[in-house]
Amino acid sequence: MKIGAFEVNSINNIDCVDGMKQLPENCIDLVVTSPPYDDLRDYHGYTFRFEEIVVELFRVIKDGGVVVWVVGDKVDKGNRSLTSFKHALFFQQTGFNVHDIMIYKKKNTPFMRSNAYTNCYEFMFVFSKGKPKTFNPLKTKTVRQGSEKLVSNKKADGVNNKVWAELKEEKTLTNIWEYAVGLGGTTNDKFAFKHTAMFPERLAQDHILSWSNEGDMVFDPMCGSGTTCKMAALNKRSYLGMEISKEYTEIALQRVEILNELLL
Ligand SMILES: C[S@@+](CC[C@H](N)C(=O)[O-])C[C@H]1O[C@@H](n2cnc3c(N)ncnc32)[C@H](O)[C@@H]1O
Repeated sequence: MKIGAFEVNSINNIDCVDGMKQLPENCIDLVVTSPPYDDLRDYHGYTFRFEEIVVELFRVIKDGGVVVWVVGDKVDKGNRSLTSFKHALFFQQTGFNVHDIMIYKKKNTPFMRSNAYTNCYEFMFVFSKGKPKTFNPLKTKTVRQGSEKLVSNKKADGVNNKVWAELKEEKTLTNIWEYAVGLGGTTNDKFAFKHTAMFPERLAQDHILSWSNEGDMVFDPMCGSGTTCKMAALNKRSYLGMEISKEYTEIALQRVEILNELLL
């Protein structure tokens, strides 16, 4: 089966601006991606056509589709670049809703600054084309369950009327998600660490489960080591990946191949 010029469930070594031009409009349900930000990593000198990417994303995403954009800032001589904010503002100008600004908190943080607190997060902007058509909220177990006397709002008499209530078994997660990073946290695929800026598999999976349903088309235009594609396949979604570097494309292909063998 094809989606534009590409096979469904394929990872392609191509500049994503050129690649997206070969896709029809309104064909993608969900994007989970992370761009190269500032010059934090060396991507072999590839240029990053940010504005063109956003315009093409708006064209190919379905109404109600979601783009999860994971991005951080560089600190240069004590000054944060604010690339993340610039990106978010441009998405909004292009027509996307800023549906949420979530935080990706890293459990183990390698970088230290002598005169500021250790940065332990990146942003996960959740942009949508109109109102998101899918939201499957992830839940967590509550600390206390069963019947309990709850404090009620005080009335004018100032009396605190406690009432009996049934506590819920689980609650929806907050918008700060925490993940361990590195081997065993980000992934167990040791060979994938040839890519220097992967996001954790569980991060990709949690967004895929939240904003898409089985059979939906999940796209990563800058798929690096293929994390989003792998987790889409694992969760019975279709996927499409694009990656400008041949070396990273090969890692991504290897990761989904290993997964496919395990799933057989
Ligand atoms: C932050 S990394 C993505 C990592 C990925 N989320 C993972 O878990 O492996 C950004 C990637 O974008 C790729 N890239 C940069 N410009 C691109 C473009 N125009 N088209 C496609 N890929 C591009 C880089 O080569 C790099 O692998």
